[in-house]
Amino acid sequence: MKRVFSGIQPSGIPHLGNYLGAIRNWVTLQEEHECIFCLVDLHAITVWQDPKELQEHTLQQTAVLLAAGIDPQRHILFNQSAVSAHARLAWIFNCVSRLGWLNRMTQFKDKAGKNRENHSAGLYVYPNLMAADILTYKATLVPVGDDQKQHIELANDIAQKFNHDYGTDFFPQIEPFTPPAARVMSLRDGTKKMSKSDPSEQSRIDLTDDADTIAQKVRRAKTDSDPLPSETEGLAERPEARNLVGLYAAVSSTPPEQVLAEFGGQGFGTFKSALADRLSTTIGPIADETRRLLDDRSHLLSVLRNGADRARAIAEPIVTEAEQLVGFLR
Ligand code: TYM
Repeated sequence: MKRVFSGIQPSGIPHLGNYLGAIRNWVTLQEEHECIFCLVDLHAITVWQDPKELQEHTLQQTAVLLAAGIDPQRHILFNQSAVSAHARLAWIFNCVSRLGWLNRMTQFKDKAGKNRENHSAGLYVYPNLMAADILTYKATLVPVGDDQKQHIELANDIAQKFNHDYGTDFFPQIEPFTPPAARVMSLRDGTKKMSKSDPSEQSRIDLTDDADTIAQKVRRAKTDSDPLPSETEGLAERPEARNLVGLYAAVSSTPPEQVLAEFGGQGFGTFKSALADRLSTTIGPIADETRRLLDDRSHLLSVLRNGADRARAIAEPIVTEAEQLVGFLR
């Protein structure tokens, strides 16, 4: 049985991209694996977070994850900063990882843009912390969206170099686990990924949106003026149409070919209202349950505290051994 680890930044409310790219897989992996799921607050502060909002988002995300089907009794759900082993291993990895490797990370380039001198050092070394998150538990299976695959490759490079430098086989290799809809794009621009940090709320569907909001966002989603094609090849140069067809396929668990067999040749009107219905059926129950769970904040806090205690019990011996391998007196 492989140990699964994955994380999400509590920098906003989880959206449809987080759900289809990651959370939906987290839920199914619970059936056959030992899973550790983490609200990565240390990662979130690599860009400025208002402290009150960070707390609020951490609780909201906990509620969303429970509502989506994460089982905190059989598995572990906690917030990263509560387990200090992550930060200790991340420091060691800061010293193992190479600047040349970090310079290749496309997410840093995308996030920092032209103004890279003005971003936090944390944003730059972020992938080292992500490697530490996973290897703190010697997890080997990591369900993520497409955008995180490069970080997993880097984590493997770090694990390998650590093992080589310290003459050990202590850290295992990691395998990413990505679904077919591994990259959900913005509803306003089919070439940009759907993101919590996009200033336009119209660009994403949050997992707390109600049916009316979903219908309105889908109606306003950017499209072109041609009818839908009958074959997937016809989507090649049409990023917005491709994204919406991909979403329909993902939420109805049918291949895009079948979606186009049904809607090909038609305009976007009928298709968009069918898509909004499908999305509401998927997200509606999660949004309702999230609202219910948010009424009992002390329960949410106790879920996180209990998860952190159990995470610590796994993490401490592993990270202490890594520290001993490095030559720290423990
Ligand atoms: P984050 O918070 O950006 O996203 C959480 C998960 O959602 C996926 N995702 C998407 N999938 C498809 N389409 C999208 N538009 C989309 N946007 C986000 C992400 O791939 C991710 O799986 N660095 C990570 C958090 C992290 C982590 C880890 C993940 C920290 N440590 C260790 C795995 C293992 C991040 O920023 O995710």
